[in-house]
Amino acid sequence: MPEDNQEAEAAASYWERRFAAEGMIWGGAPSPTAAHASALFRSEGVRTVWVPGAGYGRNTKALSEEFQVSGTEISASAVELARDWDPRSDIRQGSILEPQEGEREVDGVFCYDVIHLFLAGDRGRLARQIRRRLRPGGVLYLTCFSDEDVNCGRGEQREPGTFVYKPGKTAHFFAFGELQELFPGFEVMEEAHITEALPGPEGLHSYRLRIWAARAGSRSAAE
Ligand SMILES: C[S@@+](CC[C@H](N)C(=O)[O-])C[C@H]1O[C@@H](n2cnc3c(N)ncnc32)[C@H](O)[C@@H]1O
Repeated sequence: MPEDNQEAEAAASYWERRFAAEGMIWGGAPSPTAAHASALFRSEGVRTVWVPGAGYGRNTKALSEEFQVSGTEISASAVELARDWDPRSDIRQGSILEPQEGEREVDGVFCYDVIHLFLAGDRGRLARQIRRRLRPGGVLYLTCFSDEDVNCGRGEQREPGTFVYKPGKTAHFFAFGELQELFPGFEVMEEAHITEALPGPEGLHSYRLRIWAARAGSRSAAE
């Protein structure tokens, strides 16, 4: 089996085990970035939003107050939790690395803390799925681990900028300019940092996240 497939399967069972055992891992309050993204989507006339790696709906619940939200999530347990927590959103089980049956073009994508989970090959695959789903002129709002995070550089280096920063936890820490490389033809609307505290096994942990918002160009410009 190719290395990327093994990684993806290991990640899928990791998330399934966690959601099955811990339920709503990060609680019910949305990330502040959900309100920030909503304001941007509103000002851009966005009506439909796709959330890749939607989890149990922690952030879709805030977005679905205002937008028509669909999500794709690998963990069956998370999808089940999301159906109770955020029944307005249409969250389906599947992989964000491949096209999904019945998917529709959307005006906006909210991709929160997902893309840094993958090695380079799969980051490229996810970026391609986002580019395919987003209509030209649509808005991508993305957050990911930043190279300013304390864990950047800790543990074994798997690839440039990608570290096994804790036992069993690999992440890519994005440097300035890397998202633009992943999304050629996108016009940057906003680049910022936020520090977010989330509950974990050892109590609250602060993460330094990059926020990257950009407008999709024509599909031919992206390929
Ligand atoms: C760090 S969590 C972020 C959760 C979510 N974005 C939120 O707003 O709460 C990463 C999520 O991505 C999901 N995920 C990981 N790999 C995936 C894949 N290949 N396809 C779909 N979802 C995936 C995990 O199951 C998990 O729910």
